[in-house]
Amino acid sequence: MLAVPAPYSLRPMTVVDIPAVLEIDRLSFPTPATEQLFRNELTENQLAHYQVLARAAAGESATGEVLVGFAGFWLIAGEIHISTIAVHPAERGRGRGEWLLLNLLLEACALDPLLVTLEVRQGNHTAQSLYRKYRFEEVGLRRRYYRDTGEDALLMTVDFAAQPDYCRWLHDQAAVAARATAD
Ligand SMILES: CC(C)(COP(=O)(O)OP(=O)(O)OC[C@H]1O[C@@H](n2cnc3c(N)ncnc32)[C@H](O)[C@@H]1OP(=O)(O)O)[C@@H](O)C(=O)NCCC(=O)NCCS
Repeated sequence: MLAVPAPYSLRPMTVVDIPAVLEIDRLSFPTPATEQLFRNELTENQLAHYQVLARAAAGESATGEVLVGFAGFWLIAGEIHISTIAVHPAERGRGRGEWLLLNLLLEACALDPLLVTLEVRQGNHTAQSLYRKYRFEEVGLRRRYYRDTGEDALLMTVDFAAQPDYCRWLHDQAAVAARATAD
C-alpha cells in the first residue's frame, strides 16, 4: 500500500467497511451501489481488489477511524478495469482522490497488466482531470452508457505497451506523496 501522511492510511476494504463505503457512495454517484454489490465483490469475486482510505479519529467513531474514500478494480485477462473511486465530499479537493488512484495503480502495476481501463461520465470533468494527470488517454465513447441519466461514457486507458515507463513514473509519484503532509 502507498504510504500516506498520518492520520491517513490505506488498507484493503473488508465487509466491516461496507456501511461507511455505502454512505460515501450515496454522496458520490447518481445511482448508489447496494450492500449486496459490495458484499459480493469482497466475498465472491476473486477478480476484485478494493481499498479504503481511512483517517484516524479517536473519539469520533467506535473503531477510532473514519472512512474518507475507497477505490476498486477488477483484473480480467491481463486488463485492470477500475470499477469505482470516490472520496467523501467533505474531503475532496485535497489530494485524497489522488492517493486512492495512485495506490490503486501501484497495486495494478504489481500485477503486471497490459492495460488499465475505465469509463467516466462525459460530464465528470473532475474525474477526467484526475485520470489525465495520471496519463490516461481517451480512446473511445460508449453512447448512453449510464442508464440512470442516459449520459455517454468516455473510455480512458493507460496502455502499458505505449507507456513502458509508466510504473517507474508511478513510483516517483508515490515518493512525492509519501513526503507530503496532511493539511
Ligand atoms: C473524482 C474524485 C475521486 C477526486 O477526488 P478528490 O479528492 O476530490 O481529488 P484530488 O483533490 O485528489 O485532486 C486530484 C486531481 O483531480 C482533479 N480535480 C480535483 N478537483 C477538481 C475540480 N474541482 N475541478 C477539476 N479538476 C479537479 C485535478 O486534476 C486534481 O489534480 P490537481 O490538484 O493537481 O489539479 C472525487 O471528486 C469524487 O469522489 N467524485 C465523485 C465520485 C466520482 O466522480 N468518481 C469517479 C467516477 S469515474
